[in-house]
Amino acid sequence: MQWHVVIGIILLAYFFIVGFLHIFLPEKHLNWSEVNTNNLNFPETFTWGVATASHQIEGGNSNNWTQFEEREKKEASGDACDHWNLWASDHDMLVELGVTSYRFSIEWSRIEPEEGEWNEDAIEVYSAMVDSLLAKGIEPMITLHHFSHPIWFEEKGGFYERNNLPYFVDYCAKIYPYFADRVNKWCTVNEPDVFSIMGYHMGMFPPGKRSPVKAIRVMTNVMIAHGEVYHRLKEINPNSYIGLAKNVTIFDPYRRWNLLHWLTSFALNYIWNGAIISALSRGRMYGKSVHRVKKSADFIGLNYYTHVLTSPFLPQTTEIDLPSRKHETITEFGYPMYAEGLERATKWLQKLSIPIEITENGVADAEDKLRPIHLKRHLWVIGNLISNGADIRSYYHWSLMDNFEWAEGYSMRFGLYEVDYESQTRSLRESGKIYQQIIRDNNA
Ligand code: GCO
Repeated sequence: MQWHVVIGIILLAYFFIVGFLHIFLPEKHLNWSEVNTNNLNFPETFTWGVATASHQIEGGNSNNWTQFEEREKKEASGDACDHWNLWASDHDMLVELGVTSYRFSIEWSRIEPEEGEWNEDAIEVYSAMVDSLLAKGIEPMITLHHFSHPIWFEEKGGFYERNNLPYFVDYCAKIYPYFADRVNKWCTVNEPDVFSIMGYHMGMFPPGKRSPVKAIRVMTNVMIAHGEVYHRLKEINPNSYIGLAKNVTIFDPYRRWNLLHWLTSFALNYIWNGAIISALSRGRMYGKSVHRVKKSADFIGLNYYTHVLTSPFLPQTTEIDLPSRKHETITEFGYPMYAEGLERATKWLQKLSIPIEITENGVADAEDKLRPIHLKRHLWVIGNLISNGADIRSYYHWSLMDNFEWAEGYSMRFGLYEVDYESQTRSLRESGKIYQQIIRDNNA
């Protein structure tokens, strides 16, 4: 065959493949000016919530994060929102918003500050929080691990060591009975993907390592731990409703005519999303068996924020602004607002055929200019999905109030309430009022 025929065939095949991908895997974008996002429809049974995490709001912690903040000379979490002392009045804000559920996390490092040493006083505080919520008619959802854990556990190698998993499982089994009579909704772990990739590949979370192989090992171990916790807790109370919060980030090829960009997006989609979905549906991830993880969730929590445009030269740190489409609005975090992606994320998770709880969604926006639109667009997408048959049961806005945003410290403000960290006063933002009104209108 002559060389120009060979080249012709290769080119033809290339364009055929790229054309096929382009048509059958569209990157959906809506013309938002034509969408009436005030027209929201939710079933009466829908749960309206907000979410927080212990290390981000409590203050006064001593855990893997405080250790990392100090070692890396990062902004210290310090007193955070002083929620450990102010939780009772913070619960009044939940009432003011009108939410019917609240997702928060219990801080392992408070409960078991030293290996095998249990702090009953801390358990009592969390228990009082649960009572306060219930008295207000607000259903608690507890997360057992939201990025932070005791220093002794970190020093043993944390989730990097398979042998360490029983420490976490035993801790969960120990505290669960204190709450199981009053709390039905449980998230074992928050974002195994973000936790392992930021901590072990991007180096931006503790322990600050930079190795994709380590990240994959940690993600697998966290999923195995999740599976074990699920089974242990279910043995204690088979009626509990237990799942995990999964961050679904969608990876789209930056240039849709570039096969390399497509291949990168496939690889990242698998590493970030596909592997975890496969663990839950087939008991396998990254080519290995994690058989106790199969079907170890009564629901899947969806934390949705954005999509990432991929090329083989993706930045290795989140401090660089990510690429975006020209028409997209960029949030303060540097990634685009892409509400359409919530529909695509839901489609991924529907493969699991279990209920979906939107355990997080929100935006960093100190001036509250974007949050109203951001909130309405995402809720509109969710309402639409539900009308089309998706089993989405709740929406937990991230977050109730501004808080400690991990590697970004206090610079990113995600709250429906603005926090003045000096005086520890909270003020309801305009978007908070909008959320309040939406809840009222849809709960009538
Ligand atoms: C995460 C966490 C939250 C964040 C939120 C905003 O996704 O990293 O679950 O703790 O604060 O997502 O970035």
